Amino acid sequence: MKKRVLIIGSSNMDFVCNTERLPAAGETITTNESYMLVPGGKGGNTAVAAARLGADCVFCAKLGNDSYGKSLYDFYKNEGIDVRHLKCSREYPTGLASIIVEGNGDNRIIVYPGANMHILAEDVEAAVITYPGAAIMQLEINYERVVEAVQHCNERDIPVVIDAGPASKELDLSRLGHLEIFSPNETETEIFTGIRPYAYESCIKAAIAIRNIVNTKYVVLKLGSKGCFIYDGKYANFSEAFKVNAVDTTAAGDSFTAALTLEYLRNGKNILEAARYANAVGAMVASKPGAAPSIPTHEEVLRFIEEKENEK
Ligand code: RIB
Repeated sequence: MKKRVLIIGSSNMDFVCNTERLPAAGETITTNESYMLVPGGKGGNTAVAAARLGADCVFCAKLGNDSYGKSLYDFYKNEGIDVRHLKCSREYPTGLASIIVEGNGDNRIIVYPGANMHILAEDVEAAVITYPGAAIMQLEINYERVVEAVQHCNERDIPVVIDAGPASKELDLSRLGHLEIFSPNETETEIFTGIRPYAYESCIKAAIAIRNIVNTKYVVLKLGSKGCFIYDGKYANFSEAFKVNAVDTTAAGDSFTAALTLEYLRNGKNILEAARYANAVGAMVASKPGAAPSIPTHEEVLRFIEEKENEK
């Protein structure tokens, strides 16, 4: 039987522009690279990843009453996502992200959140009472909704995973209830703790600093091409990345978190196995352009892991 995973989060239309270099202030540059208009948003990417990787995925989000909202709704439905908790705002437009991808695959993102900031308290509560095996949230919606959702989940013993993006010093993480996993990337870790996680020492310092603020069983630091770092108060170590040629890292972290959560549920809460699977998914997503278009299926992930094993 499929594991049910609930995602409460943002949905954006991503305008992706590829360029070899960034323009300086006041400069206009022309690029012969392609551009794309594709489904994105941290919540949307996580929901698509969960569904493609084999979850019974419920997505709670807010879209605008516009053409982007309509096409995102249809897209999620075609992906087999349960769209009954996708709501439509009459007042606010669908979220939009402007993404610049440089030659080395690094991205810079500006989000106009629109309807994402207007998910209602009752929408969140209704979504939680679908009784998922786990709930995943990011920080790209109204923070009050995230705090309430964790509380609803805690009352029902539903494990909660927080993907800590986008980070802001303004957010009081101690307001979050009990979490199963708290997972920031390198930049988010630095914003929340003041520590840039590089080697073992900085990773463990940052993970301890996070656990001093956030009530979480695991801290999983997403470290891009270095894989991830896991800390539970006793165990602390890296889980190595799979080597790929990164062309666009957009959605790699979102898909990592979906994979980590789903595999954690599927394999009896073995965090190390889940991290290995999630590293494979993150690497695969980074090796293709775009957010949602780059997310693999479970079968593709298993083939990828097997191929990488055979290369050793
Ligand atoms: O994490 C990547 C996502 O961040 C993009 O798809 C964009 O929409 C922003 O939400």
